[in-house]
Amino acid sequence: MLPLNDPLLLKGQLFINGEWVDGDSEESISVQNPATGIEICRVASATKKDTAFSIKCAQQALQTWRQTTAKHRADLLKNWYQLIVENIDDLACILNAEQGKPLAEAKAEILYGASYIEWFAEEAKRMYGDIIPSNKAGQRLLTLKQPIGVVAAITPWNFPNAMITRKVAPALAAGCSIIVKPAEATPLSALALAELAQRAGIPKGVFSVVVGVDSKEIGRELTDNPLVKKLSFTGSTKVGKILIKQCADTVKKVSMELGGNAPFIVFEDADIDQAVQGAIASKFRNAGQTCVCANRFLVHTSVYQEFTTKFVEATRQLEVGNGIDPKVSVGPLINAAAVQDVHGKVIGALEKGAKVLLGGSPSKLGENFYPPTILADVTPDMEIFQEEIFGPVAPIIAFDTEQQALELANCTEAGLASYVYTQNYSRIWRFSENLENGIVGINEGVISTEVAPFGGTKQSGNGREGSKYGMDDYTEIKYLCMGGI
Ligand code: SIN
Repeated sequence: MLPLNDPLLLKGQLFINGEWVDGDSEESISVQNPATGIEICRVASATKKDTAFSIKCAQQALQTWRQTTAKHRADLLKNWYQLIVENIDDLACILNAEQGKPLAEAKAEILYGASYIEWFAEEAKRMYGDIIPSNKAGQRLLTLKQPIGVVAAITPWNFPNAMITRKVAPALAAGCSIIVKPAEATPLSALALAELAQRAGIPKGVFSVVVGVDSKEIGRELTDNPLVKKLSFTGSTKVGKILIKQCADTVKKVSMELGGNAPFIVFEDADIDQAVQGAIASKFRNAGQTCVCANRFLVHTSVYQEFTTKFVEATRQLEVGNGIDPKVSVGPLINAAAVQDVHGKVIGALEKGAKVLLGGSPSKLGENFYPPTILADVTPDMEIFQEEIFGPVAPIIAFDTEQQALELANCTEAGLASYVYTQNYSRIWRFSENLENGIVGINEGVISTEVAPFGGTKQSGNGREGSKYGMDDYTEIKYLCMGGI
């Protein structure tokens, strides 16, 4: 049992239409701590039938919810925010247990997740339309922003709290109802959030959580059901493409926050210590398991030696282990398959000539752990350069010219985040404008915040989460043309 102040936050049932229920399935999900392999608890498993029922209830709840005032919705979101902040220790304990990230990082995620609720509680009141100057006499033209309807959200295991609030908060703020399907590996944070949403007074059916052993079946219902008007997904590009295809038949609006392959570029005029600090923050957050983690380090030849030496030294200080220990800053990966995948990429790079500067072999701590690893002499033909690593491995490649750095940075189908270190202001503008990414960190390794738009270009997806743009994905613009005036 987890040491919770409020044991009612640990849920083993689904949350549908404001009730805690067992799924229709005979099976249940075993949720395990990736640091120890120990089962935390079992969670009921939803079927297609449960999912269809939750959609039907969301459609019913929508009729009343969409008519509420923005202020009312904002007040309920603020209640929810407050309850999350008050229960941060328990929520972080649940998150650490099911996902593995160190406790301090888990707490940071709870606050990060809550910040989206606070932000969209404020934004709810600013869902303004426009008055358009008419081009004909006797007419008045205007627009309204209206909730899109029932929303489905499919969320990942790497941020089991924040990726839910980042979708649920704008949906509720806009007047939509929403069904969340969290990842099977990490449903407990989502269920705890649902418990707090209920306590906050969010009406029944407005926010439901379904999860099941057969994710495909649930995903199929969420994408096929015509009552669902929008799907928001965070996860791999591969699964995102399948979901987009599935949504095509009912022409749903989709937001896709998919995989990245972030370049981290260090120019010859960079402040190297600042770059190393940014590299550590960006690369090793959540043990390298974020879509915006630096994935490829492009370093000018003249500072290559200095950067790699300092980066190796700083990385050596990171303690790997069970994130419940306050000394630990790099926890386990989500499972053994993830470790094998990361190690396979390292081996592939070594076979093609890369050199290990740090780490590089499986950890003695257990099958779910991988040590922070730095590889030098990486080349663009290596899989580790071309694909998202999703683990604590930093491949370094040298470049000579700005043009070469730009080509290397852009030569991928992914376009989520990028990082540039330089003190030259002309280059900052020029280079940032030419990067094919949705997010550019300039002399900064930590770019995520509720106040700025998060999202990618190319095959990293579409739509933006957070910021003043974040509610657009959950609204329709209606144009009213008034004549005879
Ligand atoms: C993600 O990895 O999908 C999200 C990372 C973030 O919000 O910073």
